[in-house]
Order: sequence, then C-alpha cells, then structure tokens
Amino acid sequence: MKNFKLPSSVYNWLTLFGAMMAVGAILVFLFLLIISTFTGTSSSYLGLFMFIIIPPFLFIGLILIPIGMYYKNREIKRSGDKKLTAPVFDFNKSTHRNAAMVFITGSMIFLLLTALGSYEAFHFSESNVFCGEVCHSVMHPEFTAYQNSAHARVKCVECHVGEGVDWYVKSKLSGLRQIYGVATGDYDKPIPTPISNLRPARETCEKCHWPEKFYSRTNRLEKHFLADEENTPWDIYLTLKVGGEHNSEGLSEGIHWHVDPDNIVQYLATDKQRQDIPFVRFINKKTGDTTIYIDSDSDFEMDEIANYEIREMECIDCHNRPSHQYLPPDRFINNELAKGTISTEIPEIKAKLLEICENEFVSIDSLKKYSMNEIIAYYEEEYPEVIEENRAGIIASVDAFIKVYSDNIFPEMKVTWDKYPSNIGHMNFKGCFRCHNGLHESEDGKVLERDCNQCHIINAQGSPDNFVRSEFNIPLDFQHPVDIGEAWMDMNCSECHTGLLP
Ligand code: HEC
Ligand code: HEC
Ligand code: HEC
Ligand code: HEC
Ligand code: HEC
Ligand code: HEC
Repeated sequence: MKNFKLPSSVYNWLTLFGAMMAVGAILVFLFLLIISTFTGTSSSYLGLFMFIIIPPFLFIGLILIPIGMYYKNREIKRSGDKKLTAPVFDFNKSTHRNAAMVFITGSMIFLLLTALGSYEAFHFSESNVFCGEVCHSVMHPEFTAYQNSAHARVKCVECHVGEGVDWYVKSKLSGLRQIYGVATGDYDKPIPTPISNLRPARETCEKCHWPEKFYSRTNRLEKHFLADEENTPWDIYLTLKVGGEHNSEGLSEGIHWHVDPDNIVQYLATDKQRQDIPFVRFINKKTGDTTIYIDSDSDFEMDEIANYEIREMECIDCHNRPSHQYLPPDRFINNELAKGTISTEIPEIKAKLLEICENEFVSIDSLKKYSMNEIIAYYEEEYPEVIEENRAGIIASVDAFIKVYSDNIFPEMKVTWDKYPSNIGHMNFKGCFRCHNGLHESEDGKVLERDCNQCHIINAQGSPDNFVRSEFNIPLDFQHPVDIGEAWMDMNCSECHTGLLP
C-alpha cells in the first residue's frame, strides 16, 4: 500500500469531501442494514433512512469526486504549459492504473447498492409502513380506520395505485409532491376528498371483486339505543337486497343493478363532495333507451349542464369509505353499548356521552380530562347512589368511550365523520337518497322512488317490551322508535340524524 498513489488531480478539497460523504453514506447504510437484520424489526424510520434519505448523500458524494478532479485538472493545466486539450490516460503510469482500479471497484459497489437500494426502495415505498406510518400524524386517521376495516389485510397501494407502469409513475410523482407538502407543513387538514386522481374502480376494486360475482340478499341486525334514561335498546332486522332474491338472477335486480354492464347510470353533482345530485341519466345499453331524471326540488336548469362534470356511477360512488370509515358518535356509542364495553346499566349514559361530543377538542388528551371530570361530576350530582355502587363501571365506560372516540375522531388532523360523508345507506348522510329521494322525475313522469321496501325489507323491529316480527317474507312497515309523526316520510333521515343528538 505504500506505493499506492492516485493522480494529483484527486488531491483537492471537493473530491476529498465527496469521497468522505460517499464512504460515510455507505458505512451508515451498512450499519443500519446490520441492525435491521439482527434485530429483525423493520422500523419505518430505519427504512426511511436506508432507502430514501441515505442514497442521495451517496449519490452527491460520488458526483463531487469527478467534479473536484475536473477543476483541479484545469488548474494544473493552466499553471503548466501543456498544450493537451483532453486528459491522457496512460496505463504505464501506476497512478493512472490505481485510479482506474478505484474507479471500477467504486462503480461496481455503487451499481450493486443502487440495484439493491432501488429494489428495496420500491418495496418500501409500496409498503403499508411507508404509506400509513412514516407520515404518522398526517395518515394517522386513515391508517387507524383502515386497520378497523374489512380491508385491513389489503395493501394501501392496491386501491390507491394498482398495477401497471403508468399509474406507478403517476403516483410516485404526486407522492414526491406530497412528501414536500408534509415536510413544509403545506397540506390541507383534513385531507380533501373525493380524491380527484383516484384510479377508477374498474382497475382496482374489480381486481379482487369481480362485478359479475353476484351477491344475493343479505340479512342484517342493526342494534340501536335511545338517548333516554334507560338507554332503551331498539333492534332492527333487515334483509338488504344487494342482489336478486336468488343468485341466478344476477345483477338484473337489486342494489348492484347499478353495476350491471348493461346499465349505465350517469350523474352530475353541483358540489365537490358529490352530495347534491340534481341530474341523473340512465342508459339502457340493451335497448338504447335513455331516461333523464331531474330533481324537482332543485333550481338546476338543463342549460347549466356544460358547467359540470358528468360521472359514470361505479363502485366508489356508493362504497366511498370501504377502508376509512369515520363513524359518527351516535353510531360508535351504539356499537360500544351493544358490545357492553359502555354499560347500559348507567342511566342516561348515551345522552351524556353524546353531549360531550357536541364539543370540539384540540386533542384526545383534553377530551380525556374533560369527559372523565364531566361524567363523574354529573353522576355525583344527579345519581349519587349509582356512583356509589358502580364507580368502577362508570370509569371503565368512559375509558371505552375515549378509546372508540380516538378511533373515529382525530382532532390533530381535524378529521370528523361529517367531513367524510359515507354514501352507503341514508341514516346519517344523504347516501342513496341523493338520487332516491322521490323527487327526481323524468319527463314522462317516472320517479326515483324512496319506497322503503325497494332496497331492503324490515323483518323485525322494536324494543324488548315491544318487539314486532313479520310473517315470513311479508315486510313490516317501518316504525320510528320515537314518535315524530310523519316527519321520517317527508324528510331525509340525515336532516335530524346528524351523528349527535337528533
Ligand atoms: C379497499 C381500498 C383501499 C385501501 C386498502 C386503502 N384505501 Fe385509502 N381510500 C380508498 C378510497 C375509496 C378513498 C376515498 C376516495 C374518495 O372519496 O375519493 C380513500 C381515501 C384515502 C385518503 C383521503 C382522505 C380520506 O380519509 O378519505 C387517504 C389519505 C388514504 N385513503 C390513505 C390510505 C392509506 C395510508 C392506506 C393504507 C394504510 C389506504 N388508504 C388504504 C380506498 C382504499
Ligand atoms: C386486494 C384485494 C382487494 C381489493 C383491491 C379490494 N378489496 Fe374489497 N375486500 C377484499 C376482501 C378479501 C374482502 C373480505 C374481507 C372479509 O371477509 O372480512 C373485501 C370486502 C369488501 C366489502 C365488504 C365489506 C364488509 O364490511 O363486509 C366491500 C363493500 C368491498 N370489499 C369493497 C371494495 C371496494 C369498493 C374496493 C375498491 C376501492 C375494494 N373492495 C378493493 C379484497 C379487496
Ligand atoms: C348503488 C350503490 C352501489 C354500487 C354502485 C356498488 N355497491 Fe356494493 N354494495 C352496496 C350496498 C348498499 C351493499 C350492502 C351494504 C353494505 O355492505 O354496506 C353492498 C355490498 C357489497 C359487498 C358485500 C356483499 C356481501 O353480501 O357481503 C361487496 C363485496 C361489494 N358491495 C362490492 C362492490 C363492488 C366491487 C362494486 C363495483 C363493481 C360495487 N359494490 C358497487 C351498494 C353498491
Ligand atoms: C346517482 C344516482 C343514484 C344513486 C346515488 C343511487 N341510485 Fe339506485 N338507481 C338509480 C337509477 C337511475 C335507477 C334506475 C331507475 C330506473 O329504473 O329508471 C336506480 C335503481 C335502483 C334500484 C332498483 C334496481 C332494480 O331492481 O331494478 C335499487 C334497488 C337501487 N337503485 C338501490 C340503490 C341504493 C341502495 C343506493 C345507495 C347505496 C342507490 N341506489 C344509489 C340511481 C341512483
Ligand atoms: C335506495 C335504497 C333505499 C331506500 C329507498 C331506503 N333505504 Fe333504508 N337502507 C338502505 C341501505 C343501503 C341501508 C344499509 C346501510 C348500511 O349498510 O349501513 C339501509 C338501512 C336502513 C335502516 C337501518 C339503519 C341503520 O343503519 O341501522 C333503516 C331503519 C332503514 N334503512 C329505513 C328505511 C326507511 C324507513 C325507508 C323509507 C323511507 C328506507 N329505508 C328507504 C337503502 C334504502
Ligand atoms: C324530525 C327528525 C327525525 C327524522 C326525520 C328521523 N328521525 Fe330517527 N330519531 C329522531 C329522534 C328525536 C330520535 C330519538 C333520539 C334518541 O333517543 O336517540 C330518533 C331515533 C331514531 C333511532 C334510534 C336511536 C339511534 O339513533 O340509534 C333510529 C334507528 C332512527 N331514529 C331511525 C330513523 C330513520 C331510519 C329515519 C329516516 C327514515 C329517521 N330516523 C328520521 C328524529 C328523527
């Protein structure tokens, strides 16, 4: 090694600095590689460092080496009187041979690391850890809801990117912009939807859910509780007509009729979140007939049609929250009461917890303090005998409430149920009633009905003391749990059921 000499152009500050940076980057990379192999944990931050942050340093370091040499060479040339215009490479000189050796081995190591690195970076950038955890505070709401959804085992990228090079490139480009946004704090809270460049469901959902796979009817039990002193339970047994009465009927009937390839339903929404739909067009591909329905309650005029986008209905126009559903408080409290983690034995507990949700909190910590104090104080004042007997039960119920609240409401990102309306059903959001409100009429008098038996039938309903079952397959008329006259027939359910106390 004593005689190992490099061309004099190597000896300059820029080249030295570049070499140090490159070697440093490689050492840090190897160190992290050893840690992650031996500990067997793939922490998201380790991955972020190894595959996203370190490689640019290695790259810049390697670029600086020849740049330094180039300037040094120019200097040497200027000071001497050599007339040469391009550098001469002479294998008879040991310095040149050494330089070539360093260059070739260095490049091989670099290429190897680049190949490994880009392969790993590709996998890493496609992983749930990267999508859901690296930008922890930003994606926390989506990641939490996702983990509680039917798709918890489906990778983020399978819905958000899908297969193929074009969408891969598109998503990585917009991803770079988003990383910049997160780094500079320049992003919207909450993240706005609908996502304008979401890949069509034809190419994502339908990879796993073949549309011609027919679902027939499904049965459902919905458990509700009134916000009264007894937290009175109210059960509803529904048969949802997802498909026809029998599998063999395919998509010709029922809710998935909309995705029958022979039926094209198009619509126009006047708001960004696609909640106000005054114009619906149904094209029957088999017969070629077209029917246009206009909401007679809106002031939409046909000549405005060019101002808006017309969308063709697909999976996401109904299933817009397949993976990130933020439940409203009346829903998540009902669920905990049904599970028993919030005790129905505590008088008025549903009403009191809903009242707490009327407030806006800056963090889950402030909710914790406020709700515990508020509830204990209320029961000490109004129900001293209950708190004497069952203090532990009340505390456990409030804890369960805080947990479920933090799974559905995210103060840091300003994420609440009402920012993300769900289009399935119609109780807390307009959902199906965006079109099926009984007011969309065609010229020849056809109406998109709001008939309560069109999409489901009610088989049984009521509270334990007053429970009504239907005769086999004869639907029951809906009974509203508390007397509100005929309001539920004329109004949308969501006008009263906003998620808080109606
Ligand atoms: C089953 C498919 C599916 C999976 C899996 C999925 N998403 Fe989504 N995601 C959607 C749909 C559909 C929307 C809403 C699109 C719309 O309304 O325009 C959405 C919306 C979002 C939004 C916008 C804000 C919001 O809350 O609606 C973010 C951010 C997001 N997803 C991130 C993620 C992350 C991170 C993961 C993985 C941890 C993930 N998604 C997994 C389908 C999915
Ligand atoms: C990679 C495969 C995959 C993709 C892509 C996918 N899903 Fe699913 N989906 C599943 C699986 C698996 C289940 C069943 C989960 C279970 O049985 O609990 C499911 C269940 C569902 C359900 C039933 C939910 C429930 O609560 O039972 C709906 C609705 C659904 N998916 C809609 C969608 C929509 C809309 C998209 C596109 C945005 C989509 N899926 C994309 C695999 C996928
Ligand atoms: C008109 C609205 C609408 C459209 C469009 C729609 N669905 Fe559904 N789908 C529903 C409703 C309503 C249900 C039943 C309620 C639920 O699962 O929440 C359902 C149920 C499902 C289920 C669960 C079935 C079961 O019995 O467990 C899957 C899976 C599903 N849909 C996938 C899809 C896919 C994929 C598409 C697009 C090809 C699609 N849906 C289009 C409204 C729709
Ligand atoms: C964008 C408007 C629109 C939305 C939103 C919508 N529908 Fe429809 N729906 C239609 C149109 C149009 C028809 C066909 C009317 C006709 O026969 O001309 C239809 C027909 C139906 C039918 C009758 C199918 C048959 O058996 O012939 C059912 C059931 C149905 N819809 C359920 C739903 C459910 C459930 C939802 C919500 C998850 C929903 N729709 C949301 C536009 C819509
Ligand atoms: C266009 C289709 C459609 C029409 C019309 C319709 N519903 Fe529904 N309804 C649904 C769907 C879809 C669901 C299931 C929602 C879900 O999956 O969460 C539902 C759910 C319900 C539930 C259970 C609510 C819950 O979440 O516990 C009740 C009660 C109900 N509907 C009552 C009615 C009444 C009363 C009418 C008549 C005024 C009516 N529906 C008309 C589609 C419809
Ligand atoms: C005029 C306002 C109003 C309208 C419209 C309305 N409701 Fe209600 N609803 C109430 C009130 C008030 C209560 C009692 C509140 C409580 O005790 O939680 C209630 C309670 C309920 C409950 C049980 C409590 C719960 O939240 O779990 C169900 C289920 C329900 N309504 C379904 C419906 C459905 C379905 C529709 C639409 C077809 C509808 N309501 C329309 C006012 C309304």
